[in-house]
Amino acid sequence: MLNGVPQLEDLGDVSGRRVLVRCDFNVPTADGEITDDLRIRAALPTLSWLQERGATVTACSHLGRPKGAPDPKYSLDPVRNRLAELAPGVELLENLRFSAGETGNDPAFVAELVAGQDAYVNDAFGASHRAHASIVGPPSFLPSAAGRLLEKEVEVLLAVRNEPRRPFISILGGSKVSDKLGVINALVEMVDALVIGGGMCFTFLAAMGHRVGSSLLEEDQVDSCRRLLEGGATIHLPSDITALGPGGKIGDPSAGGEVRQFGRDLPDGWMGLDIGPGTAAEFSDVIAEARQVLWNGPMGVFEDPRFGAGTRTVAEAVADCRGFTVVGGGDSAAAVAQFDLADRIDHVSTGGGASLELIEQGDLPGLSALRGAPNAK
Ligand code: 3PG
Ligand code: MG
Repeated sequence: MLNGVPQLEDLGDVSGRRVLVRCDFNVPTADGEITDDLRIRAALPTLSWLQERGATVTACSHLGRPKGAPDPKYSLDPVRNRLAELAPGVELLENLRFSAGETGNDPAFVAELVAGQDAYVNDAFGASHRAHASIVGPPSFLPSAAGRLLEKEVEVLLAVRNEPRRPFISILGGSKVSDKLGVINALVEMVDALVIGGGMCFTFLAAMGHRVGSSLLEEDQVDSCRRLLEGGATIHLPSDITALGPGGKIGDPSAGGEVRQFGRDLPDGWMGLDIGPGTAAEFSDVIAEARQVLWNGPMGVFEDPRFGAGTRTVAEAVADCRGFTVVGGGDSAAAVAQFDLADRIDHVSTGGGASLELIEQGDLPGLSALRGAPNAK
């Protein structure tokens, strides 16, 4: 089903063997505490599958973006403590990105990782779009397999991509058009309608000739947005905006600054930080008609309760949708968790960038590496 990618069963007998498991334990933390352990829990089926069959399991992961040298701020200690509770007996290496060899895909670092190991499992879906040492290196040296999480994510997302139920609606948010242009271009060819909110909507609104005040605007993406709008695809953009007035501060209501709703044009000095209530209702109507929904990126700065309504309304519409619903990781997964809606979504992905790249390309560097493993068929 994974098209040449070996599964755990293809490792053969793992009893008494040492297995290195690449996980994506890049979890959100605050003051050294894990605020959401979804990515750790998601790896448990693979870890226990190996342990139950008598393997000695060593897990490894990155956390954050340290600069290739040890940095206590990015220590995996909090993850190690949580993992000890959830999967006793699984060893966890220190943050892979404490070595520059990880992101540099240095063969010497790969050699260090595979030394003493008998097999390799990639269960790090959220990092499998990175051609980093721990993702693409070990399969050249060890019998390898996709873990259960990687397998499930790929199966669900490729079905969404390749056999969509229609109408297929994709909702995109988040701050930057530049980060998502590739996937937007791919999605307009696949979907029946694209719904765009979040910070990126202002570059689209500017391309339509609207005034965006002090909102986030990527000048160098305006032409790309205009081409997309002229391309004939159905693209829904906000018709009203919730904005913060001069003097206001995101995340700090006590700093003052008025919050007001506008249409598509904002006065100078006003910063659009959420879709307005009219837009949230329009988007909800589009979502209600969908038979398949793919959502990536919040509609506003929902961490600030003054700008959370749009994301909440869209999250509720996705939860209520009777079609098949998928939420891409990162901020939108955090939003559905915060609004307590995760169990009403068909698939909450543990990958943000990885899910978008898989939708765009239909493949990931981590998957093609596994196809090259000595035990692959
Ligand atoms: C993620 O959280 O998106 C993954 O863990 C990948 O992290 P990265 O974007 O720092 O490579
Ligand atoms: Mg549903």
